[in-house]
Amino acid sequence: SVQQRKLVVGNWKMHGSLAANTALLNALRSAETGPAEVVVCPPFPYLAQAATLLAGSAIGLGAQNCGHEAGGAYTGEVAAAMLLEFGCRYVIVGHSERRADFGDDDARVARKVLLALEHGLTPILCIGESLAQQQAGETRAVLQRQLQAVLTHLEPARIEQLVIAYEPIWAIGTGLTATADYVADIAGYLHQLIAQAMGAADNRPAVRLLYGGSVNAASADWLRQLPDIAGVLVGGASLKADQFDAICQAF
Ligand code: G3P
Repeated sequence: SVQQRKLVVGNWKMHGSLAANTALLNALRSAETGPAEVVVCPPFPYLAQAATLLAGSAIGLGAQNCGHEAGGAYTGEVAAAMLLEFGCRYVIVGHSERRADFGDDDARVARKVLLALEHGLTPILCIGESLAQQQAGETRAVLQRQLQAVLTHLEPARIEQLVIAYEPIWAIGTGLTATADYVADIAGYLHQLIAQAMGAADNRPAVRLLYGGSVNAASADWLRQLPDIAGVLVGGASLKADQFDAICQAF
């Protein structure tokens, strides 16, 4: 199969300030660019600032969420079309923090993925099991449910446009990274599910699968060697220019 361009995404979560963003993005801009595609996802109010600071650079812009309707009386929500106007090409959908705290259940996540695709944004669909689910041996069932809830609504050609981020919840912000064997095993399973949903004979469809969960320069080094992993979704380390740059260089 054709070698895909790797993708490194920084999820800033609810961090940043005008001053901190300027320092971070200027440092990233002046850092040497590697072969990987690099995307940063700042909080909504900073998208315009980030777009300005990144003008003419190869670093792309994404958002951390989008509304579950195209527009209307939804106080506090931000529509996919608005994100596009501010230069976003990607949008993270269904992050575990949103699933846990903001009512993003499977149905709502599916709705957001569809809206993002309709508006020309690439959804970065996040899935992942909790520690309790993992310990109960439910990992595969959970991942299958989260994936099917979305894939069932999509034609194969649409599925191919998705980026899927596997983030085991127990590895997020904990400093605990899954082992290479664990990630390789799950990644293989996810590619199987995706291939089935696409009715693909080939076992390795073009969908880009990312890993997320305490990624740093050291884990990036082994993650880049896994054939089923096309890149990483980085939280904490994406806020530190030297660390994020090292991860980008690894890919
Ligand atoms: O979306 C990325 C994130 O959930 C991982 O966060 O801080 O463990 O890299 P972190």
